[in-house]
Amino acid sequence: MKITVLAGGFSPERDVSLLSGSLIANSLCKSGHHVALVDVFFPYEGVLTDDAFTTDGNFMYTIPKDPPDLDALRKKVPGTALIGERVLDLCAVSDVVFLALHGGMGEDGRIQAILSSMGIPHTGSDFSSCLCAMDKYLSKLLFRAHGVPTADFVLTKNGEMPRAVSYPCVVKPCSCGSSVGVSIVNDEAELKNALDFAKRYETKILIEDMIFGREFSVGILNGKALPAIEIRPKDGFYDYERKYQSGLTDEICPAELSEADAKRLAETALKAHRALNLGSYSRIDFIREEKTGRFMCLEANTLPGMTPMSLLPQEAAAAGISYDELCLTIAMSAISSK
Ligand SMILES: Nc1ncnc2c1ncn2[C@@H]1O[C@H](COP(=O)(O)OP(=O)(O)O)[C@@H](O)[C@H]1O
Ligand SMILES: [Mg+2]
Repeated sequence: MKITVLAGGFSPERDVSLLSGSLIANSLCKSGHHVALVDVFFPYEGVLTDDAFTTDGNFMYTIPKDPPDLDALRKKVPGTALIGERVLDLCAVSDVVFLALHGGMGEDGRIQAILSSMGIPHTGSDFSSCLCAMDKYLSKLLFRAHGVPTADFVLTKNGEMPRAVSYPCVVKPCSCGSSVGVSIVNDEAELKNALDFAKRYETKILIEDMIFGREFSVGILNGKALPAIEIRPKDGFYDYERKYQSGLTDEICPAELSEADAKRLAETALKAHRALNLGSYSRIDFIREEKTGRFMCLEANTLPGMTPMSLLPQEAAAAGISYDELCLTIAMSAISSK
């Protein structure tokens, strides 16, 4: 099959995506597919024939320590478009588009809407589900409606200070990822700074009650929950640096949970996946509230990290599914779901 892997893009998570994309592309080549890896933000300058696709998987990328400078990036391409010229032309001559994007229009449904309007099969969830999952406010409303426990919250716009807030709380932009713009806040002065910080990324901001307890993430693959992973940052919380610099966080998979708790977590994750009507795969984040033992759902990720060391591939490995098998399964379900 001819597979275009779309990565990068105009998103704070573009570096993570470029790494995921490179490794997915290598893996699909190993499985015998013909692959093109493209940074969706830049014009595609190659040919549109079979020669656009390679079977030599030698792609590489290293994530810089700090999130990317989007203003500087914007200046590299004239205009305001989010998709580089001719990128969609390449997609149109592919059998499948593998979305290795994170954040921005890769995760909020826009690229999915464009591809499906063009009749091009793509991996992951459809555009309407992505839209709901990307918006943490909408997601929480749907979680509530489907009986998935989630922290109490208020929504605020343009950095306005809400009237009643209980401390400590967590401030986060409504539609970012990778913990970009997220702060833990203990008092009113910190709240103001956290709102100013989150506002740099987005005008819609969520203020959530802080949940104290162990953190878990659960991958869903073709309707089944994978073994949960526990995330234990060595200090602080699971922020951008602790997500992507190795050695700062312990990840335990399968998580040490009683059989009953593991089952309850898997069921809650599947419920969250269904509440948002997600597609062939997703990864759902939780904190188990120490006080009550409830698994509180933080959010659903429609395009979770896909390096072999990312959480979902680790969970797949714990279930006996290799990285190559995982990439292949995701690519194939893009075709079978059409
Ligand atoms: N309500 C909360 N209570 C405690 N920690 C939280 C809460 N919300 C988020 N966090 C911490 O912030 C991290 C990022 O939050 P999350 O909602 O998963 O957004 P992102 O899309 O950035 O991953 C979580 O992994 C967790 O460590
Ligand atoms: Mg998360």
